[in-house]
Amino acid sequence: MLGPTLLAASRSARVKRLVTSAPVARQLVARFVAGEADDAAADATRRLIGSGLAVTIDRLGEDVLDAGHAQETQAAYVRLLNRLAEDGLAAGAEVSLKLSAVGQALPGDGERVALDHARAICATAQRAGTTVTVDMEDHTTVDSTLSIVGELRADFPWVGAVLQSCLRRTEADCRALAVAGSRVRLVKGAYAEPSSVAYPAKHDVDRAYARCLRILMASPAYPMVATHDPRMLRLADALASRYGRGPENFEYQMLYGVRPREQRKLAASGARVRIYLPYGADWYGYLMRRLAERPANVAFFARSALSR
Ligand code: FDA
Repeated sequence: MLGPTLLAASRSARVKRLVTSAPVARQLVARFVAGEADDAAADATRRLIGSGLAVTIDRLGEDVLDAGHAQETQAAYVRLLNRLAEDGLAAGAEVSLKLSAVGQALPGDGERVALDHARAICATAQRAGTTVTVDMEDHTTVDSTLSIVGELRADFPWVGAVLQSCLRRTEADCRALAVAGSRVRLVKGAYAEPSSVAYPAKHDVDRAYARCLRILMASPAYPMVATHDPRMLRLADALASRYGRGPENFEYQMLYGVRPREQRKLAASGARVRIYLPYGADWYGYLMRRLAERPANVAFFARSALSR
């Protein structure tokens, strides 16, 4: 029951004030987040690339309801992408973008605002020589996000989409996106969703993940297998052998701070492994979703608090 409680807390302003003011939260944040400034993101990216991993950088922030804030997020991504190019890191590092951070939920013309900001970010990524993957948020945003990704792909065909196997609709979305050149990140899904749209039981989410993985691996798309689940990793490996996919035809993706030994082991075996690296001051929602995925992380948090 802890997971749903933490996911509910991830959207509570009161709990947010409590958690973000607790000094011990910083210790846990440091495990999952590179730091707050561009320098911290660039340093962590350089380290990860140096150890044979690729990177996708997420500037933390979501649910923006202020046009000025959305504009600041766009400017921050543009600055970051230019920095990656100047530092010679763009070949190994792309960015991940949440449309709600660039205004998707603004009343009235939010979708157009998000599309314009995302377009500017994609144009900068193209000049820098790298790519953008558009994160997927809760189920109410899926139609809007897939439609914006479709519009972006008209100009930037390399834009990546994310699909969540927890949603009942996803197998159909997966078939629609399983076309040549389409970069698709498959995840299980990190949001609290109603059973009308999502599978309530974890084993059904896992089974759906396996079905979607089969569709993507058998297709001409470029699958981005984003999971830490050993069974899904073994299945991806078996499907890659069956369909003759090498490291240039698909990649594994994992979160910064989650199963780091497995990340290095996979990369050492010759696979392409990309690490999702969040940075920035707005870490609260991201941290709560990571805690919800694994109660042991909460115990780690509590132990650190008690040992101070
Ligand atoms: P599962 O939850 O079954 O975990 C398998 C094992 O992995 C666990 O037993 C544990 O060992 C380890 N593990 C998993 N999570 C952990 C954690 N937080 N801390 C420590 N160990 C952990 N979601 C979304 O809704 N939209 C998105 O855009 C993205 N983007 C994204 C990008 C990338 C690169 C990744 C890897 C994940 C996402 N996610 C996401 C999150 C995703 O939906 C999912 O919540 C997590 O990846 C956890 O699911 P697993 O597939 O790892 O399996």
